[in-house]
Amino acid sequence: MRLLGSKPNAVVCFGVLGAAGVLAQGNDKKSILDYVDPLIGTINGGHVFPGATLPYGMAKAVADVNGDNQGGFTSDNAPIKGFSHMHDSGTGGASSLGNFPIFPQICENNDVTKCKYAAWEREALRKQGSVKASPGYFAVGLDTNIHAEISVSNRTALYRFTFPASSANPAPSPNGTNPTFTNSTSPAPHILLELIDLPDSRQEAGIKIDNESGRMTGWGVFGPSFGIGNYTSYFCADFFGADLKASGIWDRGVPKNGSSLDLGLSGYGGAWVQFEKPEEKEQILVRVGLSFISSARACENAEREIDDPGLDTLEDLVDVARDAWEEKLGVVDVVPGGASEVILRAFWSGIYRTMISPQDYTGENPLWESDEPYYDSFYCIWDSFRSIHPLITLLDPHGQALFIRTLLDVYRHEGKLPDCRMSFCKGFTQGGSNADIVLVDSWLKGINAGIDWDLAYEAMLSDAEIEPPNWDVEGRGGLASWKKLGYIPKNDVDVIGEGTKTRSISRTVEYAYNDFVIALFALHQQHDEDAYKKYLHRSGNWKNLFKPNQTSILPNNGADTGFVGFLQPKLPDGTWDFQDPIFCSPLLDFTGCYLNPSGGETYEGPVWLYTFFVPGDMSTLIHTLGGADSFVKRLDFFHDSGMCYIGDEQAFLKVFLYHYAGRPGLSSKRAHYYIPSQFNDTVGGIPGNDDSGAMGSFAALTMMGIFPNAGQDVYFITPPFFESVSITNPQTGNTATIRNKNYDPGFKNIYIQSATLNGEPYARNWLTHKFFLEGGELELVLGPEESEWGTRPQDVPPSLGPFGKNGTIEDGGGGVEKRWYMAQTQPRSAVLEVGA
Ligand SMILES: *[C@@H]1O[C@H](CO)[C@@H](O)[C@H](O)[C@H]1NC(C)=O
Ligand SMILES: *[C@@H]1O[C@H](CO)[C@@H](O)[C@H](O)[C@H]1NC(C)=O
Ligand SMILES: *[C@@H]1O[C@H](CO)[C@@H](O)[C@H](O)[C@H]1NC(C)=O
Ligand SMILES: *[C@@H]1O[C@H](CO)[C@@H](O)[C@H](O)[C@H]1NC(C)=O
Ligand SMILES: *[C@@H]1O[C@H](CO)[C@@H](O)[C@H](O)[C@H]1NC(C)=O
Ligand SMILES: *[C@@H]1O[C@H](CO)[C@@H](O)[C@H](O)[C@H]1NC(C)=O
Ligand SMILES: *[C@@H]1O[C@H](CO)[C@@H](O)[C@H](O)[C@H]1NC(C)=O
Ligand SMILES: *[C@@H]1O[C@H](CO)[C@@H](O)[C@H](O)[C@H]1NC(C)=O
Ligand SMILES: *[C@@H]1O[C@H](CO)[C@@H](O)[C@H](O)[C@H]1NC(C)=O
Repeated sequence: MRLLGSKPNAVVCFGVLGAAGVLAQGNDKKSILDYVDPLIGTINGGHVFPGATLPYGMAKAVADVNGDNQGGFTSDNAPIKGFSHMHDSGTGGASSLGNFPIFPQICENNDVTKCKYAAWEREALRKQGSVKASPGYFAVGLDTNIHAEISVSNRTALYRFTFPASSANPAPSPNGTNPTFTNSTSPAPHILLELIDLPDSRQEAGIKIDNESGRMTGWGVFGPSFGIGNYTSYFCADFFGADLKASGIWDRGVPKNGSSLDLGLSGYGGAWVQFEKPEEKEQILVRVGLSFISSARACENAEREIDDPGLDTLEDLVDVARDAWEEKLGVVDVVPGGASEVILRAFWSGIYRTMISPQDYTGENPLWESDEPYYDSFYCIWDSFRSIHPLITLLDPHGQALFIRTLLDVYRHEGKLPDCRMSFCKGFTQGGSNADIVLVDSWLKGINAGIDWDLAYEAMLSDAEIEPPNWDVEGRGGLASWKKLGYIPKNDVDVIGEGTKTRSISRTVEYAYNDFVIALFALHQQHDEDAYKKYLHRSGNWKNLFKPNQTSILPNNGADTGFVGFLQPKLPDGTWDFQDPIFCSPLLDFTGCYLNPSGGETYEGPVWLYTFFVPGDMSTLIHTLGGADSFVKRLDFFHDSGMCYIGDEQAFLKVFLYHYAGRPGLSSKRAHYYIPSQFNDTVGGIPGNDDSGAMGSFAALTMMGIFPNAGQDVYFITPPFFESVSITNPQTGNTATIRNKNYDPGFKNIYIQSATLNGEPYARNWLTHKFFLEGGELELVLGPEESEWGTRPQDVPPSLGPFGKNGTIEDGGGGVEKRWYMAQTQPRSAVLEVGA
């Protein structure tokens, strides 16, 4: 654990924008970017991309390992086999992108036929301790004594390779992966490029090399990492810093003279260049422009963004990238109040990772002509709707508006909203049509610019009503049963479309919540009362799979958990089937429920977990599960038994459901249970695939004390992990501050005793987005025990059902619904009475 300097209680401040993100502590100045460690999540399956990128940048360059390389690089000892220019971050599917890697070497006796061409021959170990990663910069030394440094602009990667001045043999690596070369006073740098990608999905490809300039241009057809179809990618590589000595192509590991190579489905190869001794510092620059339109466009992108680079252009790019990141992150301002460096690093790195993707491919879309923006790598919305998009909505509403416009343009041109999308291809749907939630969440929070909300409504109704031919990649399956039976049956008979007919339980509860947000939108945006009633009714479909007398026993000793009433699979004829409620949790066959055809009736989690998923009607769920006390016991058991795997996004909301039972203090306690023990600043410091920043955004929102219930205008209030946190809305310029009184960095005082909003008592345990739009100050008085604050029925977030916190019907049955309705009636400008 690294504590903040020697004065853990010193009050330190970060500035907002301008005096840009500088932490002043004594004489030290520390930028907020110094708290961003891109290497967090680069082992243990985090799959984080730790290389150089701008916010939402298309170019994402890093060293690629021969190993668990979804994010390109890993913080273990896996050998490095290339340096490539595009990546996705945190994905759980196959490795993504990594097209056209380059690799630097010195050939024995400078003989190009002695260099190693095939990836498995050329790969080299890293030098221990040589890896440096910070926003916009990545560096690693190879045990061949070649040092690589990387930065990027939006669509161009820049590499600076420093070669050894003389090729005195480096220390051989333990398994001898480094090439041996003879001593020479003028080693000739050799750099190859290979027509391949990380998942080895390449189909046709071709490359040309200009034997005077060394410029390489080319293309390849590749497959997406978690979806169907193919995409074509182009590049343009230029070299600077030394005279060309020789160049050519290579084919199946053999270098040849020649200026072009075409590859079909089989074969491997690319091009190579060899240089005279570099003019300065033994350095060669490689600039790789990228495009999805043409290699000419790739060259244009490169020349426009990084014209005529010199050796220190890399530093200039890093400066530009740091400014871009500081601007994005600088809307958040934290007074640590002694919070540990572990917390600060996990926090800022979490926000940073949230803005790596989606990636701005505007103007590079070969699929359709459009003036709309085009962002890619919504990877996947099942993962991102819960915390990534809500966090971006808070910090970068302009970016979020561009994402919404992209989603709608995909609908316009492909007929459905995506649930997952990467590399211009349709990705696999994991549950419901969760883009519906992203749209409604944004609408509720005032995201507006350039968005056609009527089109959005049309797209959502299409999800709800029209089953596509292949619902594995968009929309919903089983809609005939959904409409007729009110649930997705196990062994559904579906004559409309094709898809993987598993996950009947999880699809049912997700479709129900999708219909819930559509109902909200129908009423409040479209003023369509009939649709509101229809979808509100369908949002209750989860009840049709609730089996009141279902029990659950522990797999290890058969002991009854004591909890009764769980979701269960139901057949088309209405009879119950059975799935052990613990199946597919860490306690029983954890990996039994994926997208495979033999997967279970829940997706990536147990019935226990899905039984808690009624985000729009928690009061009815709590009532159904026996009232608040019983609900709290069940939720505690879920977390304490080891059944809850916090490394999968669907677990996130379960940390905060205590709010609905009038126990906001227990949400705070759970937040501290998981952070920093599961989310911290180590290279293995996230518990699961980051999925484009999902783990990062969960940690950041939780530490800010405002976790959202995505799809509703609801943020659960818990004490921030810092003395205070402020968010300045970049569009309104208003600042919302949440300040803890009695904050202690040892986290004994984690329970809210009382609160004021702009000086007035505030009893609700939740906030709406209005606070962030208008700014203001929420002050929380903390103490070491739970209090009465936020515990009354009228204090809890809105729900549909008429049930109070202990299962009694409040206000004659209409009150809570009315209250909910009122709260949401003018959700974008709601004037909520403070304190109530
Ligand atoms: C080389 O050795 C290192 C350390 O012993 C090991 O981690 C790595 O997997 C080995 N690489 C290959 C290609 O055998
Ligand atoms: C990168 O592209 C974004 C638009 O996505 C633009 O706002 C930004 O200025 C560009 N950055 C640089 C360094 O060109
Ligand atoms: C290269 O030079 C170093 C020291 O100058 C020497 O130790 C080494 O044996 C030489 N290697 C070869 C292959 O000549
Ligand atoms: C360079 O390329 C041109 C055109 O492809 C070719 O005519 C010429 O022979 C090449 N020169 C060398 C030295 O390979
Ligand atoms: C790529 O996809 C397109 C459209 O689906 C298809 O027509 C084409 O044959 C595919 N190309 C390759 C090389 O697989
Ligand atoms: C290229 O051609 C030259 C001249 O014929 C020859 O010396 C050289 O070995 C060739 N290079 C390769 C890689 O085949
Ligand atoms: C549970 O309830 C179902 C009806 O919903 C009934 O058929 C079944 O017998 C009950 N099981 C037990 C153990 O009571
Ligand atoms: C950091 O988080 C990882 C991943 O969740 C966890 O395995 C590890 O134990 C944590 N380390 C510390 C020091 O808390
Ligand atoms: C809970 O139940 C008790 C009696 O059973 C009742 O008096 C009370 O009003 C109920 N509601 C709340 C919120 O406590």
